[in-house]
Amino acid sequence: MPHPLPTVPVPHRPDRSPAELRARAREFYDEVKLRRTVRDFSSRPVPREVLEDCIRAAGTAPNGANCQPWHFAVVGDPEVKRRIREAAEAEEREFYGGRAPEEWLDALAPLGTDAHKPFLETAPWLVAIFAESWRPDGEGGRAKNYYVTESVGIATGILVTALHHAGLATLTHTPSPMKFLNAILRRPDNERPFLLLVVGFPADDAEVPDIGKKPLSEIATFF
Ligand SMILES: Cc1cc2nc3c(=O)[nH]c(=O)nc-3n(C[C@H](O)[C@H](O)[C@H](O)COP(=O)(O)O)c2cc1C
Repeated sequence: MPHPLPTVPVPHRPDRSPAELRARAREFYDEVKLRRTVRDFSSRPVPREVLEDCIRAAGTAPNGANCQPWHFAVVGDPEVKRRIREAAEAEEREFYGGRAPEEWLDALAPLGTDAHKPFLETAPWLVAIFAESWRPDGEGGRAKNYYVTESVGIATGILVTALHHAGLATLTHTPSPMKFLNAILRRPDNERPFLLLVVGFPADDAEVPDIGKKPLSEIATFF
């Protein structure tokens, strides 16, 4: 049996009253409800340090057996962005031009998305998120990672929320398939592209679809 790890006291144990808890929960909700997926970006620069801290925040996510099965490949280089755009648009042309089932295209139609992805070059940063399916065990074999999809999904949620909190907009983009990201960003075969996050400020005239979110009564049941 492996030895249990040494322990430290819980690092954050604020003593908040019920009223304070309610106020903070509402304050957070009021902020995150303003997040929207933006598809039209400004080229206004964003300091690299902002990305660094938001990714640090993502890296604190709870995850299966603390394997931390993620990698964030951050792209600001215009030439690399251009190559990603070219490859993504080639995939998307096939997707919209026949590979996608009619039902999927119908679901996307109201959002007005198509194969044209200028934002992949306009936005100052792209973050390609990779999920580490397994780890090299140091002896030429594979060590297992646990709950990889759930873990990377939670880390991505924290990243999106951290970027929103900093004052930036994101687009969660999933060109399908995305294997080209491994080649362009030189990521190993044990990592699969999870999604491509476009990060920056919205263009001045950017608009978003007028969609709503389900009310609490539809998304939660209390017992
Ligand atoms: C896993 C995932 C994949 C997505 N892929 C795309 C995409 O490829 N292109 C796109 O324009 N939006 C994409 N979106 C954004 C969704 O369309 C958007 O989150 C949804 O319509 C709700 O809008 P909101 O984010 O503004 O609340 C994706 C979102 C998620 C979570």
